[in-house]
Amino acid sequence: MSIVYLNGEYLPMEEAKISPMDRGFLFGDGIYEVVPSYNGKLVGFGPHIDRMDNGLAAIDIQLDYSHDQWREIATSLSEKNGAGNLGIYFHVSRGADSKRSHAYPEGVSATVFAFAFEIPPEPVADRNVVKPYKVSTTQDLRWKRCNIKSTALLGNVMHYQHGHSEGSGETILFNERGEMTEGSAVNAYIIKDGKVITSPLDEQILPGITRLILLDVLRKDGSIPVEERVVTMQELRNADEVWITSSSKEVAPVIEVDGKAVGDGKVGDIWEKAQALFSAHKYNY
Ligand code: PDD
Repeated sequence: MSIVYLNGEYLPMEEAKISPMDRGFLFGDGIYEVVPSYNGKLVGFGPHIDRMDNGLAAIDIQLDYSHDQWREIATSLSEKNGAGNLGIYFHVSRGADSKRSHAYPEGVSATVFAFAFEIPPEPVADRNVVKPYKVSTTQDLRWKRCNIKSTALLGNVMHYQHGHSEGSGETILFNERGEMTEGSAVNAYIIKDGKVITSPLDEQILPGITRLILLDVLRKDGSIPVEERVVTMQELRNADEVWITSSSKEVAPVIEVDGKAVGDGKVGDIWEKAQALFSAHKYNY
């Protein structure tokens, strides 16, 4: 039975109750995070909490949980739920009001919910073991503040479903100029002539923590050049390798885009090296 955290208490999932007037439920008015935890060891904890604090500030939700408090919740949830391969989900909504009104209410306290869910074992940097992705593409029809990790995810859900219904494991998105933004729940990369290229940080994409760690370890290692710039969909189709990243996937290779092979259709050499560097250094973040 899974033990969750709700507003200061640990309790069985079945006993965790939230008001139907909660603005998270009515409006998707909240911010969330997913932090990976392997045998109790967290990846990117500080940057994840910083991003959540930025999101809360961006939408004016007041909550004074410190990094230490969030760490205590993550550690307790891991211990209470078997301490295996877990994603720790944090969710802060603006709270439950007595009426449904769009304006931010006064005197309402935020709802804080957290739970742990199973994620795949730590990825191994081995092309014979990794399960590569096949992805679809579609136009990015989400809002213009995709840098905020909002719990209002209908756009992402519909885009994910588009790929899922075509048998793909992700959907890579492009804007009205035919430029790649990100995926429905991942950041996206092309590799061309030995260089890793990914969309720049702006309001069209989430500043992924896996992206932050990956780019930092690649730059510190120095053997694979990295560029953050606009990537066109034509470049995506002509790439030597394509990768997607997220907290639960780490660096995942993509071997097919819209039914067409990426490069020679096999997992690439540069992926293996990048995932090995990521695995070696991820616990330092
Ligand atoms: N998804 N872009 C989007 C739209 C995402 O939803 C995510 C993460 C990422 C990757 O971010 P990070 O490396 O910080 O996990 C990029 C999470 C895991 C989710 O919604 O479950």
